Amino acid sequence: MSENAEDKAVGIPAQADGATLTKKDPAPGEILLKVTGLQKHFPIREGLFRRQTGAVRAVDGIDFEVRSGETLGVVGESGCGKSTMGRLITRLLEPSAGKVEFEGKDITHLGVGGMRPLRRDVQMIFQDPYSSLNPRHTIGTIVGAPFRLQKVTPEGGVKKEVQRLLSVVGLNPEHYNRYPHEFSGGQRQRIGIARALALNPKLVVADEPVSALDVSIQAQVVNLLDDLQQELGLTYVIIAHDLSVVRHVSDRIAVMYLGKIVELADRESLYKAPMHPYTKALMSAVPIPDPKRRSAKSERILLRGDVPSPISPPSGCRFHTRCWKATEICKTTEPPLLELKPGQRVACHHPENFEDQAPQDTVLLSAAKDAVELVPDAVLAESAETSEALAAEVAAETASEAAEESVEKSTDK
Ligand SMILES: Nc1ncnc2c1ncn2[C@@H]1O[C@H](COP(=O)(O)OP(=O)(O)OP(=O)(O)O)[C@@H](O)[C@H]1O
Ligand code: SF4
Ligand SMILES: [Mg+2]
Repeated sequence: MSENAEDKAVGIPAQADGATLTKKDPAPGEILLKVTGLQKHFPIREGLFRRQTGAVRAVDGIDFEVRSGETLGVVGESGCGKSTMGRLITRLLEPSAGKVEFEGKDITHLGVGGMRPLRRDVQMIFQDPYSSLNPRHTIGTIVGAPFRLQKVTPEGGVKKEVQRLLSVVGLNPEHYNRYPHEFSGGQRQRIGIARALALNPKLVVADEPVSALDVSIQAQVVNLLDDLQQELGLTYVIIAHDLSVVRHVSDRIAVMYLGKIVELADRESLYKAPMHPYTKALMSAVPIPDPKRRSAKSERILLRGDVPSPISPPSGCRFHTRCWKATEICKTTEPPLLELKPGQRVACHHPENFEDQAPQDTVLLSAAKDAVELVPDAVLAESAETSEALAAEVAAETASEAAEESVEKSTDK
């Protein structure tokens, strides 16, 4: 990934050390957020009396934890419940069931007053930098809003602190009085990031932070998030609809399908040996940078059919209507999310790269026979290698930048 000088959060200035803004430091690796059986069912109401006739089961019983200092990537197709999950854990939505614990404290049903201190610790970056910034407010007002809402006065005043934050995210502090329309998409997303950082949060939930941006800008914003994490010890939940965005920044990745987590694993395990067929299909959809190979049709697992409706999800395993390995048990029995390998949890009766969990059931469902267009193992292995090569390139680039920086510093002396 390339980046220019402006895009790097070089030498992030220190936070104004007003009493209210002292850096809080949870021990790295400690569980910061724990989610158990989390559900969000949106009621569907019809008729004159608005009677409930059904529900959209957007998030339907998920369990995971986020450790301090890590980045958890969350991926899945459109409509699988990623944003709803993000809004539940930041408590912008009230869960229908389940539990959310932050630093060991149950915050599932906290009211506005109880949530106020938490609002500082947990922040969200929104998907669309065009609609998430009020066009009538200046950048100074937007980035300074959290201070006013929380009634916090940073040392040196709000203006000084906002200008510091603008320079932290690589924007010109002199642009304090400008309006959102005067900035590009990437710059607007930086403004959104500055706003999220204002109160020195512990957890930042970024909902598709780069999907509205040009591909050339995406890497810069992802790198900025990465730099900020190193400098400020942030913990991230980064939501994306495919694996390419979270590939290089996540420590662990959760794969969602129709309101459920179907696989949760550390990055290396997930890329080297995905165990859920849906993960495997998502991985093969990650664009391959080599143009010759990109044109080869045989390099993708193309899932047939649309994602079923979350109003009446399929019985048993929700993926059985699109899975090429589905057997009768998949239709009748929901597979639990089990830790099949250390650090790799999977919900599947017939996982990839592991012994069959239902070996007695071998007859494929008729839908399975034409569920995908091609499942070429060899190509998938090759694409994993390409990904590794890319990772190596990024590492080399970062190392050479670091070397250049240290040469510059020693010359300055
Ligand atoms: N306020 C709401 N009322 C009713 N249904 C909702 C509401 N918000 C979301 N949904 C539904 O819940 C499901 C999950 O939506 P969500 O926005 O969480 O998905 P997503 O994974 O973020 O999708 P995308 O990738 O398109 O952003 C969708 O079917 C959506 O229509
Ligand atoms: S093999 Fe069965 S349980 Fe596993 S993903 Fe396919 S349908 Fe679901
Ligand atoms: Mg979304």
